[in-house]
Amino acid sequence: MESRNLQSAAHIGNLSLPIHESPAMPVITTIQDLKEIYARRVPQMFYDYCESGSWTEQTFRENITDFEKLRLRQKVAVDMSNRTTATQMVGQDVAMPVALAPVGLTGMQSADGEIKAAKAAEAFGVPYCLSTMSICSIEDVAENTEKPFWLQLYTLLDDDFTDRLIQRAKDAKCSALVITLDLQILGQRHKDLKNGLSAPPKFTVKTMANLATKWAWGLEMLGTKRRFFGNIVGHAPGVSDPSSLGAWTAEQFDPTLDWTKVKKLIAKWDGKVILKGILDVEDAKMAANVGADAIVVSNHGGRQLDGALSSIRMLPSIVDAVGDKIEVWVDGGIRTGQDILKARALGAKGTMIGRAYVYGLGAQGQAGVTRALEVLHKELDMTMALCGRRDINDVDRDILYIPEDFEGRWVGN
Ligand code: GLV
Repeated sequence: MESRNLQSAAHIGNLSLPIHESPAMPVITTIQDLKEIYARRVPQMFYDYCESGSWTEQTFRENITDFEKLRLRQKVAVDMSNRTTATQMVGQDVAMPVALAPVGLTGMQSADGEIKAAKAAEAFGVPYCLSTMSICSIEDVAENTEKPFWLQLYTLLDDDFTDRLIQRAKDAKCSALVITLDLQILGQRHKDLKNGLSAPPKFTVKTMANLATKWAWGLEMLGTKRRFFGNIVGHAPGVSDPSSLGAWTAEQFDPTLDWTKVKKLIAKWDGKVILKGILDVEDAKMAANVGADAIVVSNHGGRQLDGALSSIRMLPSIVDAVGDKIEVWVDGGIRTGQDILKARALGAKGTMIGRAYVYGLGAQGQAGVTRALEVLHKELDMTMALCGRRDINDVDRDILYIPEDFEGRWVGN
C-alpha cells in the first residue's frame, strides 16, 4: 500500500523542513508521544537509565515542574510574519538555540544511535555533542557525518587516555570540547544498580525475559557491531568491567579535579570550550575566568546531586553574574519548545536537550530525533509569535511572569 505523505512545514530561518505522516505511523505532536512509543520499544534497563534521577529524584522532577511555574505574557495585534528562531551558539549558526546534549549509552537506545542522532541534528541545523561514554566512537560518527560535531570530555585519572581522546577529537575535526564538571563520582541511581546496567546487557533471567518482549530493538542490535563503549574499549586498558558505567567511573574518573586542572585541560584544546555542570554563582565566576567560551547551567538532568535546585531556577542569578562575560546556556527538564523560549527569555543563549531527543531516537531512530526537533521547533516558533516576538534574538524577560520566589539565590549571594 502506498503511504500517504502529508506535507507541512517547519520554517527555520530560511529553511523549510517537511513533516511526513502516513496512516501506518502514529501522529506525533508532542515529546510525550515519542516517550510513550520509546517506553514500549526499548529494554527496561536502558529506559530506566534515561528516565532516572539520583536518590529521591527530587531534582530530576523539579527540573520539569519549575519550568511550569514560569508563565507567558500574551501579546496581540503584533505583526507575526517573517519569524526566525535562528541564532548562534559559540559562534556557530544554529536553526534554533538548541544542541543535542551528550548522553551516555545512546547507541543502546537504538542501534548506532549516536550516528543517527548526529545525522538528524546535522540535517536540522543544530549541534550534536558526542559523549565520552558513547557506544559509537568519535571515528564512527565522523565517518558518517559531514559537519563537525562536539565531543564531551570527562576528567579522567589517566592523562594519556585523556590526551589521546582529545587528539582523536581533533583528528575527527570536532568543533568544540564540552568538559563535564559535575560527575567526578557517579550519583547513585537506584534503578541502574538494581538492573545491573551494562553495555551490552548481560544475559540474566531478568534481562532475557525483558529482551524477549523487545524483538524489534534486538533485531536492530544484531545488525550492528557497535555494542560496546566505542571510545573506550580497545583504547583504555585496566578497567575491571569495561561494559559497566559504574566500574568505569569509579576506577577512571578524577576525584581530585580542581580549577587548575580544568585550566590545563582547556589549554590542550584549540577550539571552543564549553564547561557543563555549573549550578552556583561563584562557580560560574570561576568558569568565566578560566577561558571557557560558554557554560551550561546544569545539574546533569537531576542525575548527580539530588536536592540541588533545578537548572532553570539557578539560571537568572548566573546570567546576572556572568552573562556579560561568557555565553550562558542551560539544560535539564526541557520537554517543550515553550521551555526553550522560557530559558532564552531568562538569558540563556543556548539550551541542551537530552531525554527529549533520546525518546525520539528510541521510538523511531533517526526519524524520531528529527521528529523531536520538529516538535520542539514548532512549539518554540508558535509560542514566540503568540508572545508578540518575531526574532528569537529579541526575546527577553519581558515575555515572562516570574514568581517572586522563583530565583535560586544562595544567602551568601
Ligand atoms: C552519564 O553522563 C550519566 O549521567 O549517566
